[in-house]
Amino acid sequence: MTTRSAFRPIVFTLNGARASVRAHPMARLLDVLRESCGLTGTKEGCGEGECGACTVLVDGRAVNSCLVPVAHVAGRKVLTIEGLKGRHPLQRAFAEHGGTQCGFCTPGMILAAVALGPHPTLEDVRRGLAGNICRCTGYEGIYRAILKSGGASRASDSGTRNAGSTRQEKTSHAKGEARSRVPRPASCSRRRSRPAGRLAKAGVPPRRRRRT
Ligand code: FES
Ligand code: FES
Repeated sequence: MTTRSAFRPIVFTLNGARASVRAHPMARLLDVLRESCGLTGTKEGCGEGECGACTVLVDGRAVNSCLVPVAHVAGRKVLTIEGLKGRHPLQRAFAEHGGTQCGFCTPGMILAAVALGPHPTLEDVRRGLAGNICRCTGYEGIYRAILKSGGASRASDSGTRNAGSTRQEKTSHAKGEARSRVPRPASCSRRRSRPAGRLAKAGVPPRRRRRT
């Protein structure tokens, strides 16, 4: 039986900030993001790598986070829908061109589209989103939104651009891998470097600053 003593600290970059999580190395990245890091924009649909609802980017490539053990992202860059901050052109385009209804598939669709890079062709979009299922809209509105927005034309601003990458980085994490045998991840701390504050600007060394 696996115990919590099997937990390990795993460090990676999450939406541009350093993240450290104590988790079993085989815990699903999806669970770590949602339950430990509180990033519930990443959805769970099938849990078996078939629907794409759990899509996130790892080093710019779209992956199904329900199939990725968290140990796989150690030292790598993970981007979730929260990392686009609601300001990505694709997010606006989905709303404007009827690319979303219930919204359950939308985070995965948008991240899969970001991975396509700027100005994808219709064929690129069809191929790149082949692993993402939408039960509401049909796909015309989604394809139209991606093509009209120019794909990830401004994704390079957030360090996510990866033109030409293809989806489906399947890993050896077996489908349904004994979720019951892998303990849930415990905690996730995220630290973003902050701009220098008033005291730092005044040249006061950190140890002499008093908490207020
Ligand atoms: S939840 Fe369906 S592919 Fe991950
Ligand atoms: S908008 Fe509902 S599943 Fe796609």
